[in-house]
Amino acid sequence: MPSFPDVPAARLPGLLRSMPKAELHMHIEGSLEPELIFALAHRNGLTLPYPSVESLRAAYAFTDLQSFLDIYYAGAGVLQTEQDFYDMGMAYLRRAAADHVLRTEMFFDPQTHTARGVTMDTVIRGLHRACVDGAALGVSAEIILCFLRHLSEREAFETLEQALPFRDLFIGVGLDSSELGHPPEKFARVFARCRELGLHLVAHAGEEGPPAYVWSALDVLKVERIDHGVQSVHDAALMRRLAQDRIPLTVCPLSNLRLCVFPSLQAHNLGALLDAGLVATVNSDDPAYFGGYVNDNYTQTFAATGLNARQAYTLARNSFEASFAQASQKRHWIAQLDAAFAQAAL
Ligand code: ADE
Ligand code: ZN
Repeated sequence: MPSFPDVPAARLPGLLRSMPKAELHMHIEGSLEPELIFALAHRNGLTLPYPSVESLRAAYAFTDLQSFLDIYYAGAGVLQTEQDFYDMGMAYLRRAAADHVLRTEMFFDPQTHTARGVTMDTVIRGLHRACVDGAALGVSAEIILCFLRHLSEREAFETLEQALPFRDLFIGVGLDSSELGHPPEKFARVFARCRELGLHLVAHAGEEGPPAYVWSALDVLKVERIDHGVQSVHDAALMRRLAQDRIPLTVCPLSNLRLCVFPSLQAHNLGALLDAGLVATVNSDDPAYFGGYVNDNYTQTFAATGLNARQAYTLARNSFEASFAQASQKRHWIAQLDAAFAQAAL
């Protein structure tokens, strides 16, 4: 925007909620609310090791990434049929629409399902059907297949093989799960193959892991976005590289808080990343587990750190620019964003 509209501070929380935005870092299995976990367990005749929704929610007290992943993979165990994946996808998309998310690129973890005997076909078809029906909610939705980095390169290649019959139903690949001890270069050859296939490439790096993992995600895997990346601030040369090449960072403040990456939201470095000129975005990661969807991430982080309206605009604009949507579509969404800010200034 050439001249930035003057938005009164009191209007900022409402504007954060109503402004159009994209969400680029959300694991669909991390959107499974305890109520839905219980409903799916019931539908599939499964018994959970928790007596109630409340007792399951009470178990969501994490000390680090691994303590979360153990519960997250157990929760995903209730997903069995195509309808389960569809219902999970639609529940998230309804929630996203309420947060004025116009575009979402949802991660899914097929290996956590295929390891239990659920087929790739079941997972991808269910999620893709939800993406198609998301359009009626006003949300443009796509899926990104993530390889689990605690598993082997061979297993990642097998997963890719299983997914290739559905090549047109997902837009890219990512890398997630336990970061420490599993550097990006472990998956160099799988990502090279995915690049040849024309898939978009992203990877979690610098969540708990060191800046060296962000470097190798960029230089070895050749990813287009870094998921998290908050540890990059410890390496000035890396910060310059991310800014110069305009590599987007999909930052997840409430996730970072709940997984003890930062001691408080006040201590989060989102503002520092923006000040350094990085293309940062705000996302929910695993909203059912971390106490909030994308609007909660915006409002709580802004309240805690004192970010301003211009930074809100930058974050939302970055989210559209960093998406893998068509350029003409991005321009259309950014025009809607400009209109929302102009309106808020009146
Ligand atoms: N899988 C789901 N959420 C994740 C996170 N925050 N980091 C790594 N893997 C994940
Ligand atoms: Zn994540």
